[in-house]
Amino acid sequence: MVADSEFGGTAMDPSLPGCKYLVSAILAMEPSECLISHARACGGGSITYQVQQFILDHCISKPNDFYAPYLNNFLKKLITQIESHHGTVLDQFYELYAHYITSSKDGSLGKRDSRIVKRISFLFPDGCSDVQKCPHSRVLTFPLQCSLNMLEGDTGCSIWPSSLFLSELILSRPELFSNKLCFEIGSGVGLVGLCLAHVKASKVILSDGDLSTLANMKFNLELNNLNVETDMLQRNEDTSTVKCLYLPWESASESQLQDIVPDVVLGADVIYDPVCLPHLVRLLTILLNPTDLDFRGQLTSCKGHSPNSIHENGEPYCKGAIDRSDGRYKTVKNDGCNGQQKETPVAYIACVVRNVETFNYFLSLGNQANLDIDDLTDSLKPMNLLMYMQSYNQADIKLLRITCSHTIRLQ
Ligand SMILES: C[S@@+](CC[C@H](N)C(=O)[O-])C[C@H]1O[C@@H](n2cnc3c(N)ncnc32)[C@H](O)[C@@H]1O
Repeated sequence: MVADSEFGGTAMDPSLPGCKYLVSAILAMEPSECLISHARACGGGSITYQVQQFILDHCISKPNDFYAPYLNNFLKKLITQIESHHGTVLDQFYELYAHYITSSKDGSLGKRDSRIVKRISFLFPDGCSDVQKCPHSRVLTFPLQCSLNMLEGDTGCSIWPSSLFLSELILSRPELFSNKLCFEIGSGVGLVGLCLAHVKASKVILSDGDLSTLANMKFNLELNNLNVETDMLQRNEDTSTVKCLYLPWESASESQLQDIVPDVVLGADVIYDPVCLPHLVRLLTILLNPTDLDFRGQLTSCKGHSPNSIHENGEPYCKGAIDRSDGRYKTVKNDGCNGQQKETPVAYIACVVRNVETFNYFLSLGNQANLDIDDLTDSLKPMNLLMYMQSYNQADIKLLRITCSHTIRLQ
């Protein structure tokens, strides 16, 4: 039995980084070992009374929000850890643990659900530009429904490390994505799309070739208060609207994509199945091919006018140009309708190299397709906004920047 007077001391400050890590780790359902290690760090090496009280008040105060077997497992490990270091365990932890044990025996915990909601929190350091936009929030949290089975939905119902990496990139370098038409392939649970909408991409289009993944993705977008658009012909300029496309790479065709001229193409953990890679490379070539840009741009922006139509101001509706303004040469599109120039599309593909042969196969297919593939792993590093996650390591991720070599290069 523990009497409060036995301990005393001041309560832990939830705004301390260690406390934020602990709360964020449990919301993201990090493994118990990770939670225990954060709890120890908070207590300067041991899980003190104050740390236990903090866990009770701030981490598991609403036990119904959690997947019961996860909390049960955490409590078991927490109690074992404290006892094995001769500490005194809070009575409430024993009570909660006993409740779970009894409920799982009499079946009142309900059947084990294969879908769970993880809450992924991005923790911004002081002075981050994103924080200036939302001064009251230094933490950005997205709830995401995922599957406990990593292979469900053709692997698309789990959060893979490369999507965490691309999300960190988007949130730490918003200027690369804001006001741009962003198109993601193999979008899975939709986390990258949520980050793109957060930094105000002009349009976010997510896609996947698995129907159950697509349904789960739409659920997640709505869970995060975004509108979902499924009709290709529908035009919604509202940046809180995200378009979701069923797009198996094998059947993707130029005509299906003719209305879409992305500025940025994104893909996280999509390089893993050698059978799909030729189709993936063909899709990238369609999306990145600037030789079609004028024509495809016209379909998007100048619908109803032939390629040679002349605007009433005497200018053609659609024309290509070379922009030398920043000292570099790039193909640009002047759509003639609103005078805006479009840069050559670029793809950011993040991946974990699990099999070198598969990765090299992707590189060789890209080479054959005249894609320029640059390794930006060392030069474009996102901020580490997920410091609390021990199941994810930025250093495991490779970042590729891909453009199409048909781009006119003048030096
Ligand atoms: C490993 S998961 C990555 C999901 C998500 N991008 C992430 O990083 O969390 C691969 C994703 O690509 C999709 N995918 C795999 N092969 C595909 C194909 N041939 N056509 C379309 N989508 C495919 C899967 O459905 C799945 O959503």
